Amino acid sequence: MKTALIGADGQLGCDLLKLDPTLTPLTIKDLNVTRADEAETVLQEINPQVIINTSAFHRVDDCEDDPAPAFAVNTYGARNLALIAKKIGAALVHISTDYVFSGDKKTPYSETDPADPQSVYGISKLAGEKMIEYLLPEHFIVRSSGLYGTAGCLEKGKTNFVESMIGRAEKRQPLKVVDDEILTPTYTLDLAKKILEIIPRRSYGLYHITNSGECSWYQFTKKIFELLKMKVDLSPTTGDQFKSKAKRPKYSVLRHDHLKHLGLENLRSWEEALKAYLKEKGRLK
Ligand SMILES: NC(=O)c1ccc[n+]([C@@H]2O[C@H](COP(=O)([O-])OP(=O)(O)OC[C@H]3O[C@@H](n4cnc5c(N)ncnc54)[C@H](OP(=O)(O)O)[C@@H]3O)[C@@H](O)[C@H]2O)c1
Repeated sequence: MKTALIGADGQLGCDLLKLDPTLTPLTIKDLNVTRADEAETVLQEINPQVIINTSAFHRVDDCEDDPAPAFAVNTYGARNLALIAKKIGAALVHISTDYVFSGDKKTPYSETDPADPQSVYGISKLAGEKMIEYLLPEHFIVRSSGLYGTAGCLEKGKTNFVESMIGRAEKRQPLKVVDDEILTPTYTLDLAKKILEIIPRRSYGLYHITNSGECSWYQFTKKIFELLKMKVDLSPTTGDQFKSKAKRPKYSVLRHDHLKHLGLENLRSWEEALKAYLKEKGRLK
């Protein structure tokens, strides 16, 4: 099955390609999702049966001051790809986010829970989902959360949360980390595996895919240093104290009902995934 991979040099893109080197990798230099005509020419040439779109504008705070790039990539980019996919008869796999939820719930969100984004980024991603649902029945929309992968996040300067915490600890900086935002941090290798597993099932629609369990960013950080046996000046704080421009959900743990419905196994726990990531990075034996 010929599959085009957009955002091939991102964190998730790199892991998808690692697991399946037969994917046709496309970086922004090959295909920019905001340029509909050029994107159509490139994809028509490849003529894939499946297009995987990992692209996003996700500098969440920047989106509040200037929403245009977020809507260009996350909404119109998704629309462009849905229209192209329809034209060439391909299915579209599109990655979305837990930030489509308000975070007011205290129990995990299922795919049927109503979205209510509280940030420009979340709104632009939800609008992208809606465009795809409206235009193309053959879609997989995969919401995930708190991604980290060995390639590092391109939007965040080739780093990710885990590496940035370790880097700051190595500089002996005291760390204050938010303890009132609960999520499931997710290793992109695990997410990539599951994405590749669902595609052949052709059970189109919305999916929540994350590692299992839940924790706050503070608990996640504490676990990083516990595993690495590093002594760090780490203390909990609240989201309000950070005064960031974009509002983040206080609780955005996702239930995996669509996976369960297909009889597919849940992903391993976030603790096991973190250990595997640290081993892959050569930080743990
Ligand atoms: N990171 C998270 O914590 C998180 C959480 C939940 C959901 N997600 C979603 O998961 C997906 C993958 O995230 P990630 O962490 O792997 O991001 P990433 O490392 O920043 O990768 C995104 C990729 O998209 C490319 N891209 C950006 N704008 C593009 C455009 N206009 N046309 C084509 N390609 C473009 C980037 O290339 P350049 O960098 O060269 O522009 C990069 O290769 C995104 O859809 C994101 O919204 C992420």
